[in-house]
Amino acid sequence: MNATPHDDTQFPHDALLETAVEAARAVGPRLRKAFRSRPEVSTKRDFQDPVTEHDKASEETIRAVIEGRWPGSAVLGEEGGATGSGRLRWYVDPIDGTANFAAGLPFFCVSIAAAVDGELVAGVVYDPVRDDEFTASTAGAWCNGTPIRSSGATGDREAMLLTSYPTPRDMSAEGEDALRRYGRFLTSFSAVRRVGSAALKLAHVAAGWSDAAYGTRANPWDVAAGALLVRQAGGLYLGDPLATGDYLACVGGFDLASSALSEVAP
Ligand code: IPD
Ligand code: CA
Ligand code: CA
Repeated sequence: MNATPHDDTQFPHDALLETAVEAARAVGPRLRKAFRSRPEVSTKRDFQDPVTEHDKASEETIRAVIEGRWPGSAVLGEEGGATGSGRLRWYVDPIDGTANFAAGLPFFCVSIAAAVDGELVAGVVYDPVRDDEFTASTAGAWCNGTPIRSSGATGDREAMLLTSYPTPRDMSAEGEDALRRYGRFLTSFSAVRRVGSAALKLAHVAAGWSDAAYGTRANPWDVAAGALLVRQAGGLYLGDPLATGDYLACVGGFDLASSALSEVAP
């Protein structure tokens, strides 16, 4: 993915961003109201993959906003799967960080991105608890309307790394090797945190509030908006945000070649 400087007359990027923001903000009141109500949790793939009625209802609201503005466009949503078709495709995670949301930990977000012909052109990561709205388009990247710059630490010893690695699936696949690798991260970085939302992690790296983020087996709805944010803010994002896989992001100017993360760079 490379953001194109030109705009598209059929799909103006600022109009796509406006829709993404409208859709993300439309679910803010619901999520704030439900937060810390200990909503009922059911599970999907396994007991560590929670979902609530609010994930499903929020995605329906988001889809309705998108459909109202861009009828028939393709949507890939975590809860509703793939619908529609055409050059314009939306990537929707109605709650990224559902485990946090369900428990009452204030680190989750709404993530929505738009791609035209397979190229990311607009995205929003909205944190409804702090009311932080991170936006990106081919024209730039912002937090609450102010341009952001992805800058910070230049090396591991000064850097804050956000990662969920190793996840239970990484443990099944890699066993003790995963713990040894995690150990290298722990001893190399100034601090390592498991914050539990890929999209919000990337938004924080884009804003320069943390220095690096690493994740495995991420889906496009987790990372599409965050990847555009990091790249448009001048940070580095490695991995294909529109395919399921691993990603690595860091602030601009970070010495990745000397980092403990270099061994996992996609
Ligand atoms: C999860 C979060 C988490 C990441 C998982 C994702 P969800 O998304 O982004 O940080 O480690 O891979 O599935 O399930 O809360 O939308
Ligand atoms: Ca997610
Ligand atoms: Ca989700």
